[in-house]
Amino acid sequence: MKIAIIIGTRPEIIKMAPVIDEIKKRNIEFSMIHTGQHYDHEMSNQFFLDLELPEPHFNIGVGSGSHAEQTSEMMKGIEKVLKEEKPDLVMVQGDTNAVLSGSLVASKLHIPVGHVEAGLRSFDKTMPEEINRMVADVCSEIYYVPTEESAINLISEGINPKKIFITGNTVVDACLRNLKIAEKKSKDSLIPEAENVLTLTMHRAENVDDFERLNSIVQALIELNEFTIIFPIHPRTRKNLEKFGLYSRLMNTPHIKLIKPAGYLDFLLLLSKSHIILTDSGGLQEEAITLDVPCLTLRYNTERPETVHAGGNILVGAQKEKIIKAARKINRDKEARNKMKNAPNPYGDGKSSQKILDVTLKEFHEGNLTIKP
Ligand code: UD1
Ligand code: UDP
Repeated sequence: MKIAIIIGTRPEIIKMAPVIDEIKKRNIEFSMIHTGQHYDHEMSNQFFLDLELPEPHFNIGVGSGSHAEQTSEMMKGIEKVLKEEKPDLVMVQGDTNAVLSGSLVASKLHIPVGHVEAGLRSFDKTMPEEINRMVADVCSEIYYVPTEESAINLISEGINPKKIFITGNTVVDACLRNLKIAEKKSKDSLIPEAENVLTLTMHRAENVDDFERLNSIVQALIELNEFTIIFPIHPRTRKNLEKFGLYSRLMNTPHIKLIKPAGYLDFLLLLSKSHIILTDSGGLQEEAITLDVPCLTLRYNTERPETVHAGGNILVGAQKEKIIKAARKINRDKEARNKMKNAPNPYGDGKSSQKILDVTLKEFHEGNLTIKP
């Protein structure tokens, strides 16, 4: 069996790393196609180093651009590679433009698509990621869903339940495995002496491309001066903070430490020692509950409702007062904090990549990974 893996951004590299390890362990032939959507050293190469991944076999080098520009360039590049490589299965992960392009191209070449982290839905079609997930799930032949809720989403959209496998999320594999490595290797360089560490990330278009929302979040951060806020800035966010004149305001606020996007090992260690995670990231909502750190999500909806139902995550949106109130409650109310910390992890036990390979091989050998008229 030959598998082609498509990746393009930071979270895809991190979440596919355990799958690639498992493929290597089982001596399965594979090729890795990087779309080049993330290209800065600290958004891409750093993770290959931290996770000891082999170099991608192909890099399409699309870089930044509008959705149509990125997607069309990716489609052309991926089509060329898949025609040469002729894999038995194309694996995509998550909801980025690589997932949209990869699944569309492969399915039109009649190559089965396996969607890792399938079935997530925010039910908000203004998010580019929601469109990407839905298209990928129309094009896929095998669905590796993290939870029962995501399986139900797919079944209610008419997907054949026989093609759906509940595997947990590979983020747990990556997180548990690499935290141990980070504890040995990382130099703690990001972790301040202070006790009240709040780690912040944000990059979601609806937050950082909109002045009102970004400004409201920034004002909350400035007011939360009982915390030491560590803020590794995504390039999209940095660009917009500068454009809106908010960057220097944050730079001049002593309790806020702005840093470059962090490597995975350093970042995991920082997350594990944080008092609160404040984020609009998908992956961080999952990592927070895996590491038993209370999470406040800077969004009004989430495609990870399991984290909220489990009690580990609160949707605070982008309203200054709500963000401040929620962070202070966790800080002051020990019982509330412990309840969030003790929320059960809905994303599995760290064996997702094994489960993904087990079901893939079984389905392949039983002749179920084919596209029939
Ligand atoms: C993309 C994904 C998003 C994912 C995120 C992970 C889509 C539609 N979006 O969003 O789902 O959560 O990655 O981080 O696929 N830039 C750089 N250097 C880089 C990469 C980006 O400077 O290496 C800057 C560019 O100015 C670019 C902007 O960031 O225009 C946004 O990058 P883009 O790849 O379009 O989307 P992300 O916001 O990173
Ligand atoms: N991450 C990292 N360094 C950072 C910020 C995030 O290593 O400075 C990791 C984080 O641990 C998680 C992933 O990047 O595994 C999340 O990526 P991101 O938030 O960019 O994307 P999303 O998950 O929202 O798609």
